[in-house]
Amino acid sequence: HQSGLQAYRASVLHFQQDPAFHENACAWHEDGLLIVADGKILAAGEYAQLRTSLPAGAEIIDYRGKLIVPGFIDTHIHYPQTDMIASPAPGLLPWLETYTFPTERQFGDINHSADVARFFLDELLRSGTTTAMVYCTVHPESVEAFFTESEARNLRMVAGKVLMDRHCPEFLRDTAEGGIRDSETLLKKWHKRGRQLYAITPRFAPTSSDVQMQLAGELAQAYPDAFLQTHVAENADEVAWVKALYPKARSYLDVYDQYDMLRPRAMYGHCIWLDDADRARMAETQSAVAMCPTSNLFLGSGLFNFERADAQQVSLSLATDVGGGTSFSMLRTMNEAYKMARLGGTYLPALRMFYLATLGGARSMQLEGTIGNFVKDAEADFIVLDPQATPMLARRTNHTESLEELLFALALLGDDRTVLATYAAGKCVHQRQA
Ligand code: GUN
Ligand code: ZN
Repeated sequence: HQSGLQAYRASVLHFQQDPAFHENACAWHEDGLLIVADGKILAAGEYAQLRTSLPAGAEIIDYRGKLIVPGFIDTHIHYPQTDMIASPAPGLLPWLETYTFPTERQFGDINHSADVARFFLDELLRSGTTTAMVYCTVHPESVEAFFTESEARNLRMVAGKVLMDRHCPEFLRDTAEGGIRDSETLLKKWHKRGRQLYAITPRFAPTSSDVQMQLAGELAQAYPDAFLQTHVAENADEVAWVKALYPKARSYLDVYDQYDMLRPRAMYGHCIWLDDADRARMAETQSAVAMCPTSNLFLGSGLFNFERADAQQVSLSLATDVGGGTSFSMLRTMNEAYKMARLGGTYLPALRMFYLATLGGARSMQLEGTIGNFVKDAEADFIVLDPQATPMLARRTNHTESLEELLFALALLGDDRTVLATYAAGKCVHQRQA
């Protein structure tokens, strides 16, 4: 019926396939219409065609001159690191010691956690990100606070309690069994409650004991539809450390493999220092990569190998990794992904970058059909991008000659100012102030 129905007139872009491997991977409607009913997509297509299907008197929200795309999906981000973004250190391990661990200590306090979670979600929505895979801290309170805030806004979010029982300050340690017990309690409470989803979250192999890794793997086996997230092969010193800690493993990724952590819905942050055998295991187990270019360049971690990842058909997604990452904006993240790819000898078209930030993310999370594009009955998470958002962007986009040029200008010049409005489950959750 009409009251639950909204229609938006704008240019509409979304993907059905990965443009790196398919012709006609996207649907592009320059004068398009997006129709939403009860928080779900009813139709996306040409305005001239779809307007006749609207009931008489249906209101059309006029976003002509703007671009509607699916909400961005950020597959790796740390909400407790919001307040320590842009903190300098000569590399990953000293950065963790100096800034990360002391900052995360404060999240035993649920009020502090809730305060940061609110700011964090505001900032994601301002940036056009409607789904993220989120690390909380070792404290169960940090997870409670996060999901409570996310649920109140009806956002599709994935999050989990960090597991770490060794090689970190005493004040941030759980125990092997206690950490798993807390994780299972949180999983049972929050996984699939409304739009919330739980991720089993061993921080990375160095900070979990053999027993904790074993139990985390078993927990994952017990809940095959839960998510799993961790870090792998980010930094050369970290890789050497893992080699010393697990001398029998073939590689860093192999450590996770030994504990049965490679599987669909397992999201691996960074994946810079993998070899072909690792990538083959990721592809055959449907484990996914969260590429984090702003973080990798900021911490000097290295360059992601697009060419080998694509050759071996590994599932790819794009992520900010705030606070190692330097921006919440997936447009800024595209900018640095493009340059990172160039330095590695790969050309990354803007069309691919928008795919990676939308449907690519959804696929890597096994959520295609739910989020990431505008197929019928998908959840109506979408954003309105303004090609005139800044004087420079307007000047450049006034004479773009193809969709690729338009998207490239948005990716290279865009940021949170480019996001005019953000909708989650059909509701406006952010509108840019003039
Ligand atoms: N490896 C283990 N923990 C972290 C973290 O918090 N950030 C990043 N970038 N890498 C990590
Ligand atoms: Zn991270």
